[in-house]
Amino acid sequence: MHSHDDSRISLNLADENATLALAQRLAVRLKPGMVIYLHGDLGAGKTTLVRGVLNALGYTGRVKSPTYTLVEPYNTAGLEIRHFDLYRLHDEEEWEAAGFRDEFDGQNIFFIEWPENALGLIPQADVEIAFEILPHGRNVEIRSYTPTGRECLKQF
Ligand SMILES: Nc1ncnc2c1ncn2[C@@H]1O[C@H](COP(=O)(O)OP(=O)(O)OP(=O)(O)O)[C@@H](O)[C@H]1O
Ligand SMILES: [Mg+2]
Repeated sequence: MHSHDDSRISLNLADENATLALAQRLAVRLKPGMVIYLHGDLGAGKTTLVRGVLNALGYTGRVKSPTYTLVEPYNTAGLEIRHFDLYRLHDEEEWEAAGFRDEFDGQNIFFIEWPENALGLIPQADVEIAFEILPHGRNVEIRSYTPTGRECLKQF
């Protein structure tokens, strides 16, 4: 199932492979500086998507959830990617102390799980991907919020 207009795409992902296929389609459209928010409950598929993106870009190492480190950096296919999981971010002080502000240099590409925990600290999203857990599979809503985001989703 598949529907879209200019700024919003709705997809049904039957299984993990469908999530990885979506990741593959997204990977080739990434541009330096892009900020992608990943929404959804625990176990919804956010990290799976990031793993799929990294693998599609040729990264062969392990992709672990940055649950305690909050961020994991990757360099692959000439792109600097930062995978944040802010589930355990406590406050602004922790954010500043970790020096995360400096990461947002307009070149790094960001995938941010649990962005709700850092609103006001992180830049606006170019693209938001929201996972909903269904009895079988996942529903995913993808939206763009900036010209960069719209370009990314064009004829997706
Ligand atoms: N489309 C899908 N249908 C069913 N299962 C899926 C689908 N995509 C991924 N999964 C499975 O769901 C789980 C998702 O785990 P994942 O770590 O990616 O979740 P997460 O959203 O990052 O959770 P957290 O907030 O805890 O970090 C994995 O076991 C994965 O195999
Ligand atoms: Mg995760």
